[in-house]
Amino acid sequence: MENKTPLLTPIFELVMCLAQAVDLVSPLVADHHKRTAQVAYGLGLQMKLPEDELRDLVIAASLHDVGGLTRADRLEALDFEYQNPLGHSVMGYLLLSPFGPFKKAADMVRFHHVAWDFGVGAQFDGLPVPRGSHLLQLADRLAILIDPAGDVLEQVDGILQKICSQAGERFVPEQVQALVELAGKEAFWLDTVYMVDLNYLGRRLKWQEIEIKDEEFLGLTNLFRRIIDFRSQFTSTHSAGVAATAESLARLCEFSESDCWIIHLAGLLHDLGKLAVPAEILEKPGRLTREEYDIVRRHTYFTFHILEPLKILDVVRVWGAFHHESMDGHGYPFHLEENEIPLGSRIVSVADIFTALTEDRPYRKGSRGVDALAMLQDASMHHKIDSEVVAILAKNLDRVDGVRCKAQAEAVDEYRHIIELSRQLTHIAS
Ligand SMILES: [Fe+2]
Ligand SMILES: [Fe+2]
Ligand SMILES: [Fe+2]
Repeated sequence: MENKTPLLTPIFELVMCLAQAVDLVSPLVADHHKRTAQVAYGLGLQMKLPEDELRDLVIAASLHDVGGLTRADRLEALDFEYQNPLGHSVMGYLLLSPFGPFKKAADMVRFHHVAWDFGVGAQFDGLPVPRGSHLLQLADRLAILIDPAGDVLEQVDGILQKICSQAGERFVPEQVQALVELAGKEAFWLDTVYMVDLNYLGRRLKWQEIEIKDEEFLGLTNLFRRIIDFRSQFTSTHSAGVAATAESLARLCEFSESDCWIIHLAGLLHDLGKLAVPAEILEKPGRLTREEYDIVRRHTYFTFHILEPLKILDVVRVWGAFHHESMDGHGYPFHLEENEIPLGSRIVSVADIFTALTEDRPYRKGSRGVDALAMLQDASMHHKIDSEVVAILAKNLDRVDGVRCKAQAEAVDEYRHIIELSRQLTHIAS
C-alpha cells in the first residue's frame, strides 16, 4: 500500500507497549518483560556492552517471551529450573526476525534458554550463540526470582545464592561475576521493582530521538499483527483481512490517502488487546463459558489503553478500539452513542464482522462473502452497525471480498511458513 503520511514513531515506546500487552495474559507474569529489560539493561551496562549491543539486548529482553503463545507456555517458563531451548524461544525468534531492525534481538531471543554448560553453550545446533542470549537468560531467571510484593533488598542474598550455584553450568561465569559486582548497588534492585514504568528505560538510553517511519513502521505494525494473530490458527489471518477490508471500504468512502493508511494500521492493531486473552480460550472448540466470554470482551478495552501512551497513534487507536461499539449504544466496552462513534471506527467494525464471519472458528465453518453480507445487512437493520457502510459493501462486494481474500491468502502463507520453520528448527536440533 501507498503511504502519504510521514509517521514518526518512537520505536522504544512501541516496543514497551507490546511488552506490556503480552504480559496481560496472566497476573502471574505482570511486568515480566519490563522487569527483565530493566535487569538486562543493568547487567549490560555493568559489562560495558557497546551501545548498539546494549540496545539490542534491551529490545530482546523486552520481547523475549512473545513466542509463548499460550498461557501455559508463559506460566511454564516461570519455573526457575525451566530449560527448554526449543520451546517458546524458537517461536519468538521466528516472530521477531522478519522485522529487519530486530534481527539481532531476534537472534538473542532464539537462544535465551541455552545453558552455558561450561562453554558448550557458546554454540547451539552448529550456530554461534550471541553473548546477549546468555545475558538475557541470566536477566530472565533473575527477574522471575524477584518477588515485587516483598522487600526486594531482603531477597538479594537468596537470589544471588541461587544464581551463583549454577555459574558455569547454566550461566556464563563472567556474567555471574558482573551480577555479583552490580548486586552491591541497592539502586539496581530497587529499579527492578519501582522503575518498571513504560518509558524509564527509553529515557535512560536516550532513545527518544530514534524514530522510524513509513515502511519500517508498517513492518513493525505487521510484527504486532503476527504476534496478535499467530497465537491461534483460527485467528492467524484475521487482522490482515480486517486491515485490507477496512482500507478498501475507506477508499470507497473517499477517505484521503493518509486516512486510508491510518485505517489500515487500525485494522492491523484493532485486536491488540487479544494478547490478554489466553490462546486456550481462542482455540476452545465448544461454547465459551460466561467467564471466558467476559475475558474475550475485554480485548477492546486493552487495545484502547495499551496504545494510549503513543499520542501519534491516537486516531489509529480510536478507529481500532471502538470496533465492538454499536450504533444503538449497546456495544462494549464504552457503550458509546451513535454520534460518538467516528466513521473510521464504523468501517473497522463492519470490516471486522465481515472478516470474522468468513473465517473458520473452532466451533463453525466460515461463511461465503455473500452470506456474511446478508448477516451484516440484518445487523444494520437492527441498528447495530452503520447502514451506509454496509450499503457500500453490498454495492462493491466482489471487489472488497477479493481484497480481503488476497490479504488473508498472503497471511496464511506467512503463518504456514512460520509454523513449518518452527517445526524444522525444533526438529533438527532435537
Ligand atoms: Fe522470560
Ligand atoms: Fe475484536
Ligand atoms: Fe477482530
